[in-house]
Amino acid sequence: MNHQYDTVRPINWYNEQLHLLDQRKLPHEQTIMILEQVAEVTKAIKDMVVRGAPAIGITAAYGVVLAAKDAYTKSNTNWQTIIDNDLQQLAQARPTAVNLVWALKQMQAKFNSIDGNPVPILLEEAKRIHQEDINANYRMGELGEKLLSNNSRVLTHCNAGALATGGYGTALGVIRSGYATGKITEVYADETRPWLQGSRLTAWELLQDNIPVTLSVEGAAASLMQRKLIDWVIVGSDRITANGDVANKIGTYGLAILARQHGVKFMVVAPTSTVDMNLTDGSQIEIENRATEEVLTLAGQNIATIGAKAWNPAFDVTPAELVDFIVTEKGIVKPQSSDMDVLG
Ligand code: MRU
Repeated sequence: MNHQYDTVRPINWYNEQLHLLDQRKLPHEQTIMILEQVAEVTKAIKDMVVRGAPAIGITAAYGVVLAAKDAYTKSNTNWQTIIDNDLQQLAQARPTAVNLVWALKQMQAKFNSIDGNPVPILLEEAKRIHQEDINANYRMGELGEKLLSNNSRVLTHCNAGALATGGYGTALGVIRSGYATGKITEVYADETRPWLQGSRLTAWELLQDNIPVTLSVEGAAASLMQRKLIDWVIVGSDRITANGDVANKIGTYGLAILARQHGVKFMVVAPTSTVDMNLTDGSQIEIENRATEEVLTLAGQNIATIGAKAWNPAFDVTPAELVDFIVTEKGIVKPQSSDMDVLG
């Protein structure tokens, strides 16, 4: 298939170094951060140089390569023990996206088969994880697009795009595919307070690919739906539990309630690396709380009343009964039906 509208790649391995597009600086600056140490990778994930569940996992996989390279120069027999602490730090960098620990487990599964220098085998595995994520996004794009009817107007939240993945995106992959086939006629993006993933990242990457986008504040979503301007809400996810509950950027749950109230369809697009079958339901998901400054300030400027406190959970959980479709690369699940029908 010819994948149109597909120019953005946030993560690159080049010259034995990890190159990350610094998402803190978008849309005004396109700066590449070059990393050679695993501790720098852990910090980059914590600080949101790279963000979005699949992108965090891919970045961590390359982090393991850097850790192993360094440890192997210190000891060619004991490198696995030396990197143990690095891997734990990486795993804890951001707690909600299960893709991070999923990727680390994929990398660790290779350890026993390694005899000698671990770097070539681990690098091959990290590149495989990276490419398979892009392939999964292409597949989800095709599957999700088939659910749409002609003249669909969609609303997305946060950034579940190329920037949040190896490339092409999950929710934005479906939007790219739907735009390419002409089924999507209008894309709205929530600005996504407090970190502004919508206005800074989603708008930037869609416009890089010449897909028109209209920004609105989260508070406008109810009016958009009441005025019948939206047919679908399409979002990504950081973790989906066995019963179909979905953790995603704070505000997603509210959109799901609004969508149900207004007869708007709600689609979650996520690879199977986002599915956590060890958790039975969403109440077991650890929700990351981020710094209160993200709420109290904007672009480094104080905006809130001095003395006010802030509550800043980065994610919320949408119950399965509010989700119409979960699109994965392996097929489509309808979580609200009692038998969790798998389509496609
Ligand atoms: O805090 P972020 O920017 O990492 O949050 C990202 C999201 O909530 C995305 O929707 C999710 O990770 C899916 S990305 C394909």
